[in-house]
Amino acid sequence: MAQNWTPNSWRQKPVQQVPDYPDAAALAATEEQLASFPPLVFAGEARRLKSALANVAEGKGFLLQGGDCAESFAEHGADTIRDFFRAFLQMAVVLTFGSQQPVVKVGRIAGQFAKPRSSNIEKQGDVTLPSYRGDIINGIEFTEEARVPSPERQIMAYRQSAATLNLLRAFAMGGYANLENVHQWMLGFVKDSPQAERYRKLAHRISETMDFMKAIGITADNHPSLRETDFFTSHEALLLGYEQALTRVDSTSGDWYATSGHMIWIGDRTRQPDHAHIEYCRGIKNPIGLKCGPSLSADGLLELIDILNPANEAGRLTLICRFGHDKVAENLPRLIRAVEREGKKVVWSCDPMHGNTITLNNYKTRPFERVLSEVESFFQIHRSEGTHPGGIHVEMTGKDVTECTGGARALSGDDLADRYHTHCDPRLNADQALELAFLLAERLKTGRDEKRMVVNG
Ligand code: PEP
Ligand code: CO
Repeated sequence: MAQNWTPNSWRQKPVQQVPDYPDAAALAATEEQLASFPPLVFAGEARRLKSALANVAEGKGFLLQGGDCAESFAEHGADTIRDFFRAFLQMAVVLTFGSQQPVVKVGRIAGQFAKPRSSNIEKQGDVTLPSYRGDIINGIEFTEEARVPSPERQIMAYRQSAATLNLLRAFAMGGYANLENVHQWMLGFVKDSPQAERYRKLAHRISETMDFMKAIGITADNHPSLRETDFFTSHEALLLGYEQALTRVDSTSGDWYATSGHMIWIGDRTRQPDHAHIEYCRGIKNPIGLKCGPSLSADGLLELIDILNPANEAGRLTLICRFGHDKVAENLPRLIRAVEREGKKVVWSCDPMHGNTITLNNYKTRPFERVLSEVESFFQIHRSEGTHPGGIHVEMTGKDVTECTGGARALSGDDLADRYHTHCDPRLNADQALELAFLLAERLKTGRDEKRMVVNG
């Protein structure tokens, strides 16, 4: 058990990015109500994810983490969830095939509602209002009323997370993820894209393998791993009152777990070692992600690792690096060397989104070539440092949005206005996400072949 820690010890620490709730009594009543609700996930599931991530930390797997920048109350249809899940499964299959290693699947979903902001205010013309902080806190509409934080939204977010999780569990366990369906995961609009042909070929090879296995008696009926998949949820643990309300003791181990999602992460703006977010996260046993941006020093990282993972447990900590395509070469090696020198066990993951945001035609966007470039550098650097590029963390959707420029369809700045739907940062559409997965698969395959050559040579 972490020393001097309780689920509310974070309240004694300085805290960043807190909403200004006008009615403290209403907030307290909501938190009390949430504390009486059932957990969304179970400790045993979080432990299973941790052991899958421990394998990744040891170089025996790859983490695929992705989903919306911010989930929204407005977009909560079954189709949106299904399309996301399909695009995500496609990516996972491509990666599994490329790496010939297990792919640990973690969605940014079923709880990803609270957003840190670089400014407390938003200006439009002469009007200045408090910033939008995610649907769990206030509304996106640019009106004074919508921007007032409302505790009731936490209940709505909890219920939406439960419904989303319910559907995801059904998709993962109820036959939708059956590898026999690998052809059907292709989304309508992706069918005529350059990625489609590559995907079809791969799906065909998988089907052939399945036919062969069937002939020797291995089928989806008698092998659940062919028809079911482990799918986990994650979000940024930003709104600590909500997280505290869902923090529960696991009756099996007596340990505290966040039950709002399987994995939670700490944002780049809230990772001060003596502040509230680190305090909360150090005491729960879930796998934790830590965003690492350019302002994080090697010593600062080691200090955080000691606080968050004092036992140096593999799978506990994933370092989600988000430097930007032009800053990764300058920043990643120094962190890798410090971690290696001290023998710390971590999963290295690459978030090629958050360091590559630009403004174009008044839209926040991300040029796809910069996203790919950061990923390429991430792989190259790990190869030269002799460490395992363990994962990817992306903002993506299964929908045909126009939020990031570039990709095989060469979306331009003028296209952004067509289908720009995100509630926060620009996401890869399903086409771009699949293109990224193919690139990753190639890099993982190269890494695998090189390892084989070393072993055999
Ligand atoms: C995010 O993941 O949406 C985010 C805000 O990231 P970061 O903390 O890395 O800026
Ligand atoms: Co984001």
